[in-house]
Parts: sequence; structure tokens; C-alpha cells
Amino acid sequence: MLSWDSFIQEKTQQLPNLRTWRTKSGYSQRYLQLVEQRLLNFVSNDYLGLNGDPRLIQALQDGAARYGSGSTGAPSMSGYSQEHAQLSRNLATWLGFADCLLFNSGYQLNVGLFSALIDSNTHVWFAKNSHASHIDGILLAKAKFTTFTQQQISSMICAIETDPAKLHIILCEGSFSMDGNCNYLAQLLELKQKFPQQILLIIDDAHGVGALGQSGFGTFEQQGLDHRQVDLYIGTLGKAFASHGGFVAGNAALIHYLRHSVRSQIFSTMLPPAQAAVSNAALAIIQSDEGTQLRNKLAQNIATFKQLALNSEINIYQAEGNISAIQLVMLKDLNQLNLLHQHLLDKQILVGKIAYPTVARNAPRLRISLTSAHTYDDIANLVTALAEKYPQ
Ligand SMILES: Cc1ncc(COP(=O)(O)O)c(C=O)c1O
Repeated sequence: MLSWDSFIQEKTQQLPNLRTWRTKSGYSQRYLQLVEQRLLNFVSNDYLGLNGDPRLIQALQDGAARYGSGSTGAPSMSGYSQEHAQLSRNLATWLGFADCLLFNSGYQLNVGLFSALIDSNTHVWFAKNSHASHIDGILLAKAKFTTFTQQQISSMICAIETDPAKLHIILCEGSFSMDGNCNYLAQLLELKQKFPQQILLIIDDAHGVGALGQSGFGTFEQQGLDHRQVDLYIGTLGKAFASHGGFVAGNAALIHYLRHSVRSQIFSTMLPPAQAAVSNAALAIIQSDEGTQLRNKLAQNIATFKQLALNSEINIYQAEGNISAIQLVMLKDLNQLNLLHQHLLDKQILVGKIAYPTVARNAPRLRISLTSAHTYDDIANLVTALAEKYPQ
């Protein structure tokens, strides 16, 4: 006989891996403070070390004093505030787009966006190693889609050329959450220029915006490219901004259309205004000389990690091409992954343990997330611990 108890039991047994949830008991920039333990933290997205900054806490308090603890409604009802309006204006102006639309999170943005952009004439091309939120959004939209890798860009061009009646979405990340920098952004921009009317180029630079490039314009700027050449530029406020929320910037007509059509935004309570105030305060820092200095420190930490890993003959993914804050130590199998991860934990160092289904079965990896708050010694200690048990 069918029962929900056995259904849940069976489904649970089929889960390929169970992620560990560690419960924080406080905040410190370089350490993950648990109840009985403090771990050197290489799993944080707080790329500029701004979480806990007194200016952001003050903005949260001032925002709550003015607007209350929540937003009280969806944006088209009672949820939209001057803080939100200012944030979308500030983001659009800073990034050089006409307009910008805010969401409760980057995930919520991506899961709702594609349903508004798909009909029987559209085809979506998205990078094979795309974030779960892209995949879920595309599936929810019931879109016709093809995944691509850099090697398949030329066949994507052929397909677009031979099907002029179709409209195409090309979706990619500036820096992949599990692979680091995308090294073919220039090719995607060229493709957009070749078919300006047929292609809508959407880039999600969640891990780049604010953190990478001299001015914080993300992976594009880091690679000497102009992010304003994309149609929709997506970012999150939950990483370098040390706040919460997602945004998409683009031209006025496109953002106007999305504002009135993306269901995951229309039918959800707006971000608290106090949280938008935090993002405004973070953006002011990101745009200032202090922001540049924090990014320089992050870039220096990335270079230090790569150099020390190279000296210790540790195999890091795309050693030449990846200068993002996400660095990957590739391993051969789950056994190696578990042993090395546990060895680091024994040394009170926490890094990401990434296995199938997040990445391919044959490509398990340790994911090291660097921030501007790490010191040289933090990074040296990490690499020393890695080298002690790294399989040669
Ligand atoms: C590429 C990408 N897009 C979107 C998201 C989700 O953003 P958020 O955490 O704001 O939901 C992530 C999160 O890691 C991401 O890596």
C-alpha cells in the first residue's frame, strides 16, 4: 500500500548527498563562529568583508525605525518604499543602465524571469554549468533550450544563423559559482553584436558584481570588457554587498515589461525597506575609494592563494584563467574529497565540499571562497593544510 511515510523514506534514501548545516552563533569576518567551535571561514560570499560593518548595521536600524521591520506587501500594493526606489536608481546609474528591478533574492529573480521571456518563437541557450536558479527558471518556463560549453559556441552560431525566424536568449554567468571565471564572455558579446535583434544576452554576475574589477563592475571589467553591452545584467545583493536581494538592470522598455510580468516578483512580499537601506549603504562603500581598496585586497588574496597553491603543486581548476574569488581544488574521487575536507576541518579550516549533483560525478572539488578580510597567514595556513594531505 502506498503511504507518505514510505514515500519520504525512499526519496530520502535516494538523495545523492546530504549537505551539512552548521549553525552560527555569531559573526566574525574571517571565522565561522559556531557554538563550540570557531572555523577559519573559506565558504563565505562576503567578498569585501562588509558584513557586520557598523555603517550597514546603522542603515538597517535607521531603515527599520523609519519603515518598520517588514515591507507589508508586494511592490504593487504597499511594499515599495523610497529606499527601494533609490536603490534601483542608484544601481542603474552606477552600472550605466536605464533602469533596474529589485527582487527578494537572486534565486527568486532567476526562477521567475524566463517565464516572462518565453513563447513558441524563443529558444534558450544556457551554459552547461549554470546555477540551479537558471535551470529551475528555464524548466518552469517550459522553454525550448540547449546547453552549451565554450567548445560549442560555433555550433550555437550556426544554429542561430540558420534559424532567423527565432528569437534567442543566451544566458551565462560572469563567474560560475562552482567553476570560477567564465573565459568566453568576449565571444558572447561578439555574438550579441552580430545578431543584435535576434539575441537577448543575459549575464548573471552574482559572484562578480561589487567584488571584481577596479570599479566593481564585475567579471567584465576584470577581463577588460564592457558589461553595458549585455541586454540584462543580473546581480545579487547577498554577496559583495553583504545585504540581501537580487537585481536585474537593462534598458527602460525591457525593465518596464519585466516589472509588470515577472510573477515571482509581482506576487511576493517586497524586500524589507531596511534591507534596501543596507544595500544603498553598501553601494556607497563599493563605489568609494574604500571599495577599490577592498577589491585590491581581495585581488591580492586571490593571487596569493594561487601562487602558494602553485608552489605546493596543488591542482587548481583553470589555474591561468580563473582569477575570481572562487578557487577550486580538483580531486579524483569522493574518497579523496572527503579525506582532504576532513583533514582541513581537523585543522579548524572550513572550505566547501562539492560533489555530484552540484558538479559532474567525475569532478569533485574543494571550493575555496576568498574575501578581502582574509590575512596572508589565513591563506598560508590553508595551503599548508591542503598540501599536508593533498594526493600526489
Ligand atoms: C550565479 C548565481 N545566481 C544567483 C544566485 C542566487 O542569488 P541569491 O543568493 O541572492 O538568491 C547565486 C547564488 O549563489 C548564484 O551563484
